[in-house]
Amino acid sequence: MISEKIREDFPVLQNNKGLIYFDSAATSLKPIQVIEATNNYYKNLGANVHRGNHHLSQQATQLYEESRKEAAKFIKAKEEELVFTRNATESINAIATGLERQNYFSEGDEIVISALEHHANIVPWQELCKRTGSVLKIAELNEDFTLNMQDLQEKVSGKTKLVSVAHASNTVATIFPVKEIGKIAHENNALFLIDAAQSVPHFEVNAKKINADFLVISSHKMLGPTGVGCLYGKKDLLEEMPPYNYGGSMISKVTYENTEWASLPEKFEAGTMPIAEVIGFGEAVRYLKKLGMENVHEHEKKLLNHCIEKMKEIDRVKMYCPQDAENQGGIVLFGVKGIDAVDLGVALDESKNIATRSGMHCAEPIVSSLNPKGLGRASFYLYNTIEEIDTFVDEVTAISKAFK
Ligand code: ALA
Repeated sequence: MISEKIREDFPVLQNNKGLIYFDSAATSLKPIQVIEATNNYYKNLGANVHRGNHHLSQQATQLYEESRKEAAKFIKAKEEELVFTRNATESINAIATGLERQNYFSEGDEIVISALEHHANIVPWQELCKRTGSVLKIAELNEDFTLNMQDLQEKVSGKTKLVSVAHASNTVATIFPVKEIGKIAHENNALFLIDAAQSVPHFEVNAKKINADFLVISSHKMLGPTGVGCLYGKKDLLEEMPPYNYGGSMISKVTYENTEWASLPEKFEAGTMPIAEVIGFGEAVRYLKKLGMENVHEHEKKLLNHCIEKMKEIDRVKMYCPQDAENQGGIVLFGVKGIDAVDLGVALDESKNIATRSGMHCAEPIVSSLNPKGLGRASFYLYNTIEEIDTFVDEVTAISKAFK
């Protein structure tokens, strides 16, 4: 069980009395432990990693590498398979660039994504297709926002070189059956990439059990600092894949004529990395581990069920999600008839200090297909409470009546 006492760990909640923060899908709040770990680096170490022989550099390197160990263990990966990047978006771009440099895609090859993807899992492939002559295919959803597995089966074929899907949606909130999707990809000799930015923060994810070839994560959505992401890749794939960034630290030997790459994972970590943020991210993983991901997930399911049941009672509200906590993350995408989503978001903020997100949510194809003017989104995390949901639903009800 998650105790309400953990709210005391979150300075933003303490410093903004009455705040109801329902925008964790955009970015989560950070506990004091993470802020202190990040500050500790700047206050007491300050040195670069993997470069100095002096003790400050060595201590910083140790903390940096401990974060890698924590993050790798968290998704059951090996340390050498866990590369730090700037965010999940950069991780996907790194994979797209690497595979393209490897000449993995040719004209007529196909890439399959789903209809609910975030822009980060659409745009890099669209651009890659323009350059390589490959074709982007979209696997459709069912009416209830689950993945249409038959459509996926039909779209994945011998021509498919990559299947890339979100594990959990940042809009309609569906949790995809990634193990099954991966099986379909692999039966067709395609690579399988999972955008886990909205799953790893909320429930246990085992990259090995799912058999993901690549999996990407964002620190700031799981209590960690902004500016850090992870790229998990199976060792043999990362070894084959050329780096996407060139420069210092990712090399083993450089002459004016040629360069040899460093071994994994440094091969993909060119230049000075966001050291303090990586160290803070390690602390975020420790924080989540201590709470237990089972507990985090149970807590969010409770909040979600409560919210869905209460929202069903409001006449003019429509929810766009599976409405089933077993297949849905802690997100409710919704609209109120006759009220613009942005106006509703502003009203919730001004009247009751409730932070939600409105608009296209960086997933315009799916959201605009549901409402061309955008939708509202309430997204929950471990620090939210049932009472907050009650206030939120009461306020949506009141606003919907006031705008009538
Ligand atoms: N992808 C983030 C969101 O869903 C920013 O809000």
